[in-house]
Amino acid sequence: MTEAKPKLLVVEDDPGLQAQLKWAYEDFEVVVAGDRTSALAALRAEEPPVVTLDLGLPPDPDGTSEGFAVLDEIMSVKPDTKVVVATGHGARESALQAIAKGAYDFYQKPVDIEAIGLIVRRAMELHRLEEENRKLAAKATKDERVLGRMITAAPEMIRVARTIERVANTNVSVMLLGASGTGKELLARGLHEASDRSDGAFVAINCAAIPENLLESELFGHEKGAFTGAVKTTEGKIEQANGGTLFLDEVGDIPLQLQVKLLRFLQERVIERIGSRSSIPVDTRIVCATHQNLEAMIEDGSFREDLYYRLAEIVVKIPSLAARPGDPVLLAKAFLTRFAADMNPKVKGFAADALAAIDVWHWPGNVRELENRVKRAVIMADGKLVCAADLDLAEPDAETARALNLKSAREQADRKVIRHALARSEGNISSTAKMLGISRPTLYDLLKQYDLHA
Ligand SMILES: Nc1ncnc2c1ncn2[C@@H]1O[C@H](COP(=O)(O)OP(=O)(O)OP(=O)(O)O)[C@@H](O)[C@H]1O
Ligand SMILES: [Mg+2]
Repeated sequence: MTEAKPKLLVVEDDPGLQAQLKWAYEDFEVVVAGDRTSALAALRAEEPPVVTLDLGLPPDPDGTSEGFAVLDEIMSVKPDTKVVVATGHGARESALQAIAKGAYDFYQKPVDIEAIGLIVRRAMELHRLEEENRKLAAKATKDERVLGRMITAAPEMIRVARTIERVANTNVSVMLLGASGTGKELLARGLHEASDRSDGAFVAINCAAIPENLLESELFGHEKGAFTGAVKTTEGKIEQANGGTLFLDEVGDIPLQLQVKLLRFLQERVIERIGSRSSIPVDTRIVCATHQNLEAMIEDGSFREDLYYRLAEIVVKIPSLAARPGDPVLLAKAFLTRFAADMNPKVKGFAADALAAIDVWHWPGNVRELENRVKRAVIMADGKLVCAADLDLAEPDAETARALNLKSAREQADRKVIRHALARSEGNISSTAKMLGISRPTLYDLLKQYDLHA
């Protein structure tokens, strides 16, 4: 059986050109449409990855209005379609306008069959790669569904998720270490939901956000009249988490004095509310997080070592977003879909410059920063596509210049490119090597050198 040829939709009103284009390419199945209605019917029926579009269509064969109307509709019906626009002689302006509206490329009439063939082939290849990436991304998110809303396709992060799943049903205490915005709270919730305590409460307390003198009462609760202002008996967070999970966020910010009291709870699993002498047993799973260097704090005496070992039976290090190649774009697309649906439904995707900028930015604020930038961009975007400027992202080149050490910069670049190629070829060594323009043995050497796996 011969493989199905990829479809090319040619939107062109000149019957002579229609006939010429229809038979010009052996490797595509060419579908022809002469006006807006038949073009959109063909788009829906055939779902061609690539469309060539003459901007001058009836009833406006000498202008561009009808062509742009078709382009707009294609972009809203199937935004992943690669549209190659044909413009009249010297119509650079309409070409640029078409690109801004989401067209993939343009060429100037008169038609040069060979040149268009090249553009179309490149567009087909790009469409195929993007399609593969979408499938891969969908698969990755499905695989990780266990951990709630977490989205990732990066091996570093999948490993983290696996660890969390594996320890979920034990009672060991888990310490999550990661820079701000890396997803510590999301993982803590995921851990709770994956555990057999998921019917109980998930109680989070941010130890850095509560004034020192109130933190004790927040954690342990108090009896009525225990101190001025204690007008009624109140349960603390620890007690509220009975039967569930207690998430101690920014645990490095607990003052020393309170560390002693927390340690006692962890050893004896009973608490006393402030102002009470009776012990209340509490059964809760402890998860904590911090962005601080607790080992250094232990060194200088501001964090108790014995408490550290109680809290950190398992330590999970969460990689920064920049250390998860591919994830920024994957997450950005997911956030865009979510925010567009909520706040600006006409936004359909990212322009190419936005994707490039997202891919190279170093994301100091990690996923939180990405989420915020995409949210603001979706609100601010004028057109269907969010561009780099909407995201307020710097020129990619400034980023590369930041890498001071040439060897490590090269190594990082190598790793990144190899990982992207592996993902795109779904781990197939031959096609990865081909994509990278190197031989298979060279690829094997690099994989070994960088400890990467297909
Ligand atoms: N892998 C992910 N997939 C989807 N959303 C994520 C992911 N990681 C983080 N987020 C989202 O990014 C935001 C920041 O995550 P989270 O609050 O868990 O980070 P954090 O490490 O606790 O940050 P901070 O240090 O600022 O408290 C949240 O809105 C969260 O839902
Ligand atoms: Mg947090």
